[in-house]
Amino acid sequence: MPADQLTETRFILADHLVRELTSEFGSPLYVVDEAHMRAKISRYRAAFSAVWPDSELTFATKANSTLALIRIAAQEGCLIDVASEGEFRAALLAGVPANRCHLHGNNKTEQEIAFAVQQGINQIVVDNFEEIETIYRKSSGKTCPDLVIRLAPGVDPKTNAKISTGQADTKFGFNIADGSGEKALLLALSHNLPVVGFHCHVGSQLLDPTAQINGGEALALFAAEMKQKHGFITQVLNVGGGLGIHYHGESRPISVEEYCRNLVEPIARILRAKDLNPKLVQEPGRSLVGESGVTLYRVGVVKTVPSPAKGQRTYLAVDGGLSDNPRPALYGSLYTVLHTPGQPRELVQESTQEYTVSGKHCETDKLFEDVMLPPDVKSGDYLQVLCTGAYNSSMASNYNRYQRPATILIRQNGSYSLVQRNDTYEEMFARESVPSDL
Ligand SMILES: Cc1ncc(COP(=O)(O)O)c(C=O)c1O
Repeated sequence: MPADQLTETRFILADHLVRELTSEFGSPLYVVDEAHMRAKISRYRAAFSAVWPDSELTFATKANSTLALIRIAAQEGCLIDVASEGEFRAALLAGVPANRCHLHGNNKTEQEIAFAVQQGINQIVVDNFEEIETIYRKSSGKTCPDLVIRLAPGVDPKTNAKISTGQADTKFGFNIADGSGEKALLLALSHNLPVVGFHCHVGSQLLDPTAQINGGEALALFAAEMKQKHGFITQVLNVGGGLGIHYHGESRPISVEEYCRNLVEPIARILRAKDLNPKLVQEPGRSLVGESGVTLYRVGVVKTVPSPAKGQRTYLAVDGGLSDNPRPALYGSLYTVLHTPGQPRELVQESTQEYTVSGKHCETDKLFEDVMLPPDVKSGDYLQVLCTGAYNSSMASNYNRYQRPATILIRQNGSYSLVQRNDTYEEMFARESVPSDL
């Protein structure tokens, strides 16, 4: 389908708000649109429950654990997936009851498990044998959370290797093929722990559901085998997250309706044939919040240099980079970049020129290459980078002692709220001391 007939699914901030917000809050600045995020979640939930009524959507807070956004996800009916004590505490602070949270992690500490049990977390996704023993010890005499056993289904998701998790050679979960999954179930049951089902998450930024289908089928077949061999009735089957978003060019995911239909039908066939009827769970992060957020940067230096590859290259150096968006450096991720000029868009020339947007960090810190923008981009203009609602704020650091950016939430009535301010230098140094005899 021609690009111009495809619907824009990404939030784009109006130029006047780019100017207004940056003049009030500075830059770099994360901006998230509340209505957009709510609509994404409710559309996903509707699509999922249309194909499997007994379903739950869980928001993976690793994508963005800003308290206000966790609260929005919870208000929209999501369960909350946390992968650390810190994320769990964020959920609790956001007002989410512990009994709406699920704890993940491939190497949970005793402290994390004890805290989760003590708070009354709803579910722990169990990753390894050591953890089963720890949960057994930490929950003795207390109510043990429901346990879901994470399985490695041996599926290659064909995405960036750093976000591939479903293959056999993975640190996550119990291998099905070598019998570890079955052993884990039997060990947990031998301790009378409340195992309710199985989980897998095969990878992230997947534009079609093939890998998730393969993972889900493996899970369903395993559930059927455990019923047949051990009489274990699976009550919960969690097929993870992973649906991709439209970062750049024509690389778009299929619609969430098509995705849920394609994903659930083959799993449902296996479950029905074996007379199993569990609750189905998905735990996306990126696809619930990624397209709802943008980052605003101010252009500083504009520099044209000779380039053996291109003849010449024009760098736009912006006031952020690796520390507020490590994804280009980590994964070679591509983004869509828009320009906010000082004049109304209709007066801006139509023609474009190629730029490389670089950050201000000490590495090459190339953020976005081959970006086509008007030929007159100048210092003081703003760039708006789309689809930064997921894995930007939550992956930000203070590298080079930069302050992590603030997050503004555009409210449903068109007003805006500062939901996370940027770091202060005082906070940055508060953790440190220099020994007096140094
Ligand atoms: C266990 C688990 N669940 C859910 C997610 C969310 O994935 P995504 O943001 O791609 O939907 C991840 C991402 O890494 C994950 O590891």
